[in-house]
Amino acid sequence: MSQATGEIPAARRRPGEQLEVEIDSLAFGGRGVARSEGLVVFVAGALPGDRVRVEITKAKKRFAEARTVELLRPGAERIADSCSHDGEPCPGAPWQGLPYERQLASKRDQVDEALRRIGGLDGFELEEIEPAVEQWRYRNKLEYSFGERDGEPILGFHARGRWDLVVDVEDCLLASERGNAARNEVREWARLEAVPAYDGRERTGVLRNLVVREGWRTGQIQTRLVTAAARFPKPPVDLHTAIEGDSGGTDGPTGVLGEERLREELRGLRLEMSHGAFFQTNTEMAERLYAVAAEYAGLNGSERLFDLYCGIGTIGLTMAARAGEVWGLEIVPEAIADAERNAELNEIGNAHFMSGSARTGVRPLIEKAGKPDVVVIDPPRAGLSQKIVRRVLECEAKKIVYVSCNPTTLAPNAAQMVDAGYTLKRVKPVDMFPQTPHIECVALLER
Ligand SMILES: C[S@@+](CC[C@H](N)C(=O)[O-])C[C@H]1O[C@@H](n2cnc3c(N)ncnc32)[C@H](O)[C@@H]1O
Repeated sequence: MSQATGEIPAARRRPGEQLEVEIDSLAFGGRGVARSEGLVVFVAGALPGDRVRVEITKAKKRFAEARTVELLRPGAERIADSCSHDGEPCPGAPWQGLPYERQLASKRDQVDEALRRIGGLDGFELEEIEPAVEQWRYRNKLEYSFGERDGEPILGFHARGRWDLVVDVEDCLLASERGNAARNEVREWARLEAVPAYDGRERTGVLRNLVVREGWRTGQIQTRLVTAAARFPKPPVDLHTAIEGDSGGTDGPTGVLGEERLREELRGLRLEMSHGAFFQTNTEMAERLYAVAAEYAGLNGSERLFDLYCGIGTIGLTMAARAGEVWGLEIVPEAIADAERNAELNEIGNAHFMSGSARTGVRPLIEKAGKPDVVVIDPPRAGLSQKIVRRVLECEAKKIVYVSCNPTTLAPNAAQMVDAGYTLKRVKPVDMFPQTPHIECVALLER
C-alpha cells in the first residue's frame, strides 16, 4: 500500500502483456478508458460497458495504451456493426458500435470538457450539437491502399493498427455507392491487367494507393492513383495518376488522364478544387458548418472579413455577399489559385486572396488590406501556435469566429484570446463525422 494515499501502486505493465478490463468512459480521440489496479488504460477498439481482453502497446507508470484483442462481453448499449470488411470492423468507423445519440452526446461533452478543463474557460453558451444529415455514406473523399491476397490485388483499408495488413473493401458505408463502384472498377482493372500491389518491404510491385473524390452535388468522380515508378497498362479514364517511385523513373503513364479539377456546389456557389487543396470531406455538413460560422460572424454588408486558413476560399466566398470585403490567407498556393478562380466563377468581386502562412502572412495582410472587423480562423487539428494567436490578436477584430476540428487545441487558443480581452460567447459543435470520434465546432469570441 502506498502510505501517502492508501492506493495500490500501479503495476508496471509491459508492451505485449494481455489483461482483461472493463471500459467505463471515452477519452479524447475516441479510445475507451479502463482502470486496472491503479493504472489507467486507453483501449483502441473498445466502447463503454465492454469487457475486453487487451494487449498493452505502450506502458508508462500511471497509464498504458492497449488494443482490443477480444470482445469478451459487449456493453449493454453496444449496437451491431453495420460496416465491416473481410470480417473486420471498418477502421474508418470506430464508433459505429455506439448508438448515434450517444455519439452526439459524447462529442458535445468533450467540447465542454476541453474548454473548461484544458482552457479553464466558463460563462460561454454551449449550444446543442448539430446532428449529421446522413449517418452513413457521407464522405466525399476516401483513401484506399492496395494489398495482395492469394496473388491477386485487393484494395481497401489497413486493418486497425496494422500497417502491413490490408482488408479488401466491397462496399464501405462511409462512401457513396458511386464512390464504391469507382474503387471496385480500379481493383477490377488491376486484377484483369495483373498489375501487382507495391510491397514496401521488398520494394517490388506497382500500386500503392487510390484516392476517390466525389463532387457530391455535381456527381463527378475523380480517382487518383498513386503508384511506384513503373510501366503499367493504362488505367480506366478519369484517373489522375501520380507516380511516386523510389527510383524516380517516370516511364509509366503520368499526369492527368481525366479531369484535373473536381467541381462541387455549396451554399449556392460553384466551386472547383485541385488535388492538393483541402476541402471538407462531408459536403452536406460543411454547408451547416459554414451557416453557423456566418451566423456567428453576423455581417451587415460593410465589414472587412479575414478568412485565415481559407483553403479554396469556401468560408469567405460564402460570406462575401454579406461583407464589405473578404481577404483570404492560405499556405497552399494551389488552393489560393482555386480560391481566385472560384471568386471569378461566381462573379464575386469583393474577395481577395493571398498565399502565405498564418505565422508570417497576417502582418502583410493587415498592411495591404487594413485591420479587419471580423476574423474567421479554420486551422488544421494542431490549432494555432501562441505566436499565431498573437498575430490574430494584432488584427484587433471585434469578432473572432474560430472553426475548429479539435477542441483540445481550440481550448488553449481561446484561453489565450480571453486573456487578451476577448470573451468566449458561444460554441456550437457540428457533427461532420458520424461513426468516428472526430469533433468539429464553431466558437465565437468578441471584445
Ligand atoms: C481545416 S482546413 C480549412 C480550409 C477551409 N477553410 C475550408 O473550410 O475548406 C485548413 C487549411 O489551412 C491550411 N494551412 C495549414 N497550415 C497553414 C498555415 N501555417 N498558414 C496558413 N494556412 C495553413 C491548409 O492548407 C488547409 O487548407
